[in-house]
This record gives sequence, C-alpha cells and structure tokens, in this order.
Amino acid sequence: MALAAALTLAGCNDDSGSSGSAAAKKPEIKVDGAYIPEPTMDDMAAGFFTLTNKGGAADRLTAATSDVAGAVTLHSTKGGVMKEQKSFDVPAGGELVLASGGNHLMLEELKRKPKRGEKVAMTLHFQKSDPITVEVPVKEATYRPEQHDGSSNASHDTHMSHTSHASHTSH
Ligand code: CU
Repeated sequence: MALAAALTLAGCNDDSGSSGSAAAKKPEIKVDGAYIPEPTMDDMAAGFFTLTNKGGAADRLTAATSDVAGAVTLHSTKGGVMKEQKSFDVPAGGELVLASGGNHLMLEELKRKPKRGEKVAMTLHFQKSDPITVEVPVKEATYRPEQHDGSSNASHDTHMSHTSHASHTSH
C-alpha cells in the first residue's frame, strides 16, 4: 500500500502538463508595409507600419529609434486628438496596425528632413522580442497604403494631416 501511494505521488510530480508548453510560447514579430510620408514640417515626421505576431505570446512595442530623429515617440489618435503612449500591445496571433489617423510613430527633433525616395533606418524595441531594424521608405506626403480588405474606412476620414502635429511641440 505504501509503495503504491509513493508511486502515485511521483507520477503527480512529474506531470508538468500545460505549464511546460506555455513556457515555450514566444512572440514572433514581423514588420510589414512600413513607410514615412515625406514630412511637411522641418522637425517632425510620422511613421506607419503593421506588426504581425505569429507567436503564441503577446508582446509590446515599447520604443523606437532612428538615426534621423533625436527622439521617436509612440502616439495614439482618438477622435482627432493625439496622445503619447508608453507602449502598444501586439497580441499573440494578432497584429498591431499603425496607420494614418490612428496609432503612429512620431520622429521628432529631425536631424535632417527625410526626402521622398530615400530610406530611413528605424529600430523597433519590444518588451520581449529582440529589436528589429527596418529600412523605411519615404513616400509622398499624401501616400496611403492599399487596403487589402475593404472593411475599414478609418483611413478615409482623416484629412487631419500631420500639420496637426504642430500641437506636439507643446509636450
Ligand atoms: Cu502624433
């Protein structure tokens, strides 16, 4: 009887079950469709891209850097009002979309003005994943990426251009 009880206990202890596989889950982040519209101002530009997380764990975009900017900040836009954010969620098996009129990066304190046709190196920093450096093409100021599904009209009601970023100088 005592032996049987000991074996049962040992069997229980070995059963690490689902916690073992959960530990193996990691975010797997990919950057798509990055672009910078040629800025209309001398000291500030916006950056847009989509992050896709194919991994089994969520991550957060926590910061970005660029060699053309003294500072890069994360901004959300709600009802036409921009707000600086500390990080953006990149859900497991989901995506984070930075698009005109919504979440975006602000490249501030520009050391030089990005010109259409050139590429700007930008490094994205995450809570868990290693940093990712992307060469971001500079597009015309009015550039909008193709929408692959027609379901979102969000980018069409945003005639609020980046001139409204003038308000950012007050931070
Ligand atoms: Cu902004």
